[in-house]
Amino acid sequence: MDILIGLQWGDEGKGKFIDLIGRDYDIIARFNGGANAGHSIYYQGNKITLKLVPSGIFCPHIKNLIGTGVVIDPVAFKAEIEELAHIIPRQDLIDRILISKKSHLVLPTYRYWDIYMEHSPVYRTIGTTKNGIAPSYSNKILRQNLRVGDIYSDNFKDDTYKILNRQYTELQLLGQDMPALEELYADFLKGCNFLKQLAITDTEIFLNQALHDSKKVLAEGAQATLLDIDHGSYSYPTSSNTIAAAACVSLGVSPKLVNKIYGVTKAYCTRVGHGIFPTEITDQIADELREKGGEFGSNTKRPRRVGWLDLPALKYAIMLNGVTDLVLTKADILSGMSEVPVCTAYEINSETRDLTAPTSVDDSVRPVWKFLDGWDFPFSKINQQSQVPKELKLFISFLEEELKIPVKYLSTGPQREELIILGN
Ligand code: IMP
Repeated sequence: MDILIGLQWGDEGKGKFIDLIGRDYDIIARFNGGANAGHSIYYQGNKITLKLVPSGIFCPHIKNLIGTGVVIDPVAFKAEIEELAHIIPRQDLIDRILISKKSHLVLPTYRYWDIYMEHSPVYRTIGTTKNGIAPSYSNKILRQNLRVGDIYSDNFKDDTYKILNRQYTELQLLGQDMPALEELYADFLKGCNFLKQLAITDTEIFLNQALHDSKKVLAEGAQATLLDIDHGSYSYPTSSNTIAAAACVSLGVSPKLVNKIYGVTKAYCTRVGHGIFPTEITDQIADELREKGGEFGSNTKRPRRVGWLDLPALKYAIMLNGVTDLVLTKADILSGMSEVPVCTAYEINSETRDLTAPTSVDDSVRPVWKFLDGWDFPFSKINQQSQVPKELKLFISFLEEELKIPVKYLSTGPQREELIILGN
């Protein structure tokens, strides 16, 4: 099994890369997060955003598996499939998606907990996507949640109503606006009935059998390393483990079976939501890069915060994940700049560190900068390594030296085919 991970705060271009290299795999397996993800893929000239559906869905031979560690909102899932059914035959979608019966459900009240907590003065404001992800994971840990396999239980409707009613009453007492309870309940049951059309199964057995039969499996990460609940920049990460090791836990596959670990990084950084961002750009260059790079949340449409490449954090992410193959995206967005700043170390309380996690504990961090020559080149004309501009080659060599790992893939634009494999 190979694993693909984002190395920054998300939105590194994982969806496009998986869509492309995924063609060599038999199964793409999502292992964390839920409908908070937004994996953008260009298909037949249109930009499509996948939230819960794995990124192998556009390749007809690929099975798409949603693992135990993913939280599933049946209403959002049904809407996503209905949208995709405009471009992929509905039955084909249904036939090629499998869901773990142990993955947890996102109940309709969870979204309102996210909204309430985000706006209430007595809670910390996270900048969440308001998809009810953290309430689902926290109810899982409290052992008060329902799982996808429960939809077949005789008590499912009663159990759902009991939880919804309790949470709805609590939220009402707190003054949270919501649609009528009966409406939320009915929509949720409709979504759950829809799920019954798909294969709801023991995905860990399916996957292990497939690996035993020499099938190729790619585990697809959502969000990214610096949003990991344990190793990311707490207090503002997402609520799941996003790093490579989490793929084994979620999918029920032994670490012994892992081969390649692809890590995707942009040539600069972005972050949506709150939290530390040591290399954040605060002048008008941020607006220019945001516009040029289309840096608006694919899920929430919020403008992303923009910053320069952060090597101490990137080294940390490569270390945590054990990356074997580095993928560099969006270097084209920096084209036209006379020089490109890169942060090579952090100064924290007069100590210099060149490999570290950006955490809010270290709010006093000051980046140390190196300025590399910029490049100015029409990326649409690059489709092989020899056409890569000299300055970008030097930028890549600098990264490889610092990171001690080769850059194996260079994305040259948003479209499916705009990617070149770099050799020596
Ligand atoms: P939540 O996961 O929706 O609770 O959001 C928690 C934090 O993670 C917020 O800062 C979100 O903006 C961020 N986040 C969640 N999912 C993604 C993603 O797919 N890409 C980038 N940021 C994300």
